[in-house]
Amino acid sequence: MTNQLDAVPQLAPVTVVGLGPMGLALAGALLDRGHPTTVWNRTPAKADDVVARGARSAEDIAEAVSASPVVITCLKDYETAHGVLAPATDALRGRVLVNLNSGTPSEAAAAAGWAAERGAAYLDGAIMVPPPLVGDPGAVFLYSGSEDVFDEHRETLASMGAPRFLGADPSLAVLHNTALLGLMYATMNGFLHATALVGSAGVPAVEFADLAVNWFMPAVVVNPTLVEQAADLDASNYPGDLGTMEMNLNALEHIARTCVEQGVHADQARHMVAIAEQAIATGHGGENYLAVFEVFKNAQATPQRRIASRA
Ligand SMILES: NC(=O)c1ccc[n+]([C@@H]2O[C@H](COP(=O)([O-])OP(=O)(O)OC[C@H]3O[C@@H](n4cnc5c(N)ncnc54)[C@H](OP(=O)(O)O)[C@@H]3O)[C@@H](O)[C@H]2O)c1
Repeated sequence: MTNQLDAVPQLAPVTVVGLGPMGLALAGALLDRGHPTTVWNRTPAKADDVVARGARSAEDIAEAVSASPVVITCLKDYETAHGVLAPATDALRGRVLVNLNSGTPSEAAAAAGWAAERGAAYLDGAIMVPPPLVGDPGAVFLYSGSEDVFDEHRETLASMGAPRFLGADPSLAVLHNTALLGLMYATMNGFLHATALVGSAGVPAVEFADLAVNWFMPAVVVNPTLVEQAADLDASNYPGDLGTMEMNLNALEHIARTCVEQGVHADQARHMVAIAEQAIATGHGGENYLAVFEVFKNAQATPQRRIASRA
């Protein structure tokens, strides 16, 4: 006779390596679904919240990798992932490595080769939503690499969002990610720059956002976020708890480098990198991306403005 516990299907154990805002969201979503979840982070204290929710914090990276058949890395970039996993290469043999940091197509291809040399199956992936939407059934997650590995672990991947397979070339997810992020940043910059321009005449962002969004902004990219956050622009309030300017600079650099790798014009991407660097140089590195608004507002000592501020 089976008791009720026997009837509960056992979800696959998963290890999450990297507990920045996104890694924490991934671990949280896996725990919510009921996956036995092991975590590891360079700064162990960041695991406290997910450990309180049931995750196990591994003592070292080898223990973390050994704990689960599926190991998800969500670190700053590929270089960081290689450095973090280096002491655990023996433990990786026979496991599935799912790499979810951003980067460039050639870095993704190199990571796939790196994993193969160590006997690990590999999927490269890209997360197309901010941390609060991770776990939402509609959250877009892109994957590329072995389709067999993707199919085998689809249920586990679906615990974090809606997995979409793009093809056998491991670079495809990162390529799509950088293309879509380029679209997002260019749109964000267009909005922020326009808001700074009317702001030079004292028009508050909350007033302009409604006009701008309804006139032009494509609903799918940034529309609701910008209307909700316009008050923060007026208040110069850019909390970085869900993602920092430093993280966004990293993503922008990946877009610029991807343009070069792919033989596509890179000046606009480089320009966005320079703007984010300027935001960091002026003290906004730990704030969220909207702090670029401060760069746009304060480009130079205020000249004789054609339209004076109404403030
Ligand atoms: N946040 C978002 O909105 C978002 C959205 C989509 C995709 N992503 C992608 O998700 C990935 C993670 O992003 P994130 O927002 O969580 O934060 P992040 O700042 O890009 O990465 C933070 C993680 O990287 C680790 N790390 C950085 N340098 C390290 C080093 N030298 N050695 C070991 N670990 C190191 C940090 O460890 P410590 O905690 O010890 O510093 C932390 O675990 C990025 O590739 C990002 O592009 C983020």
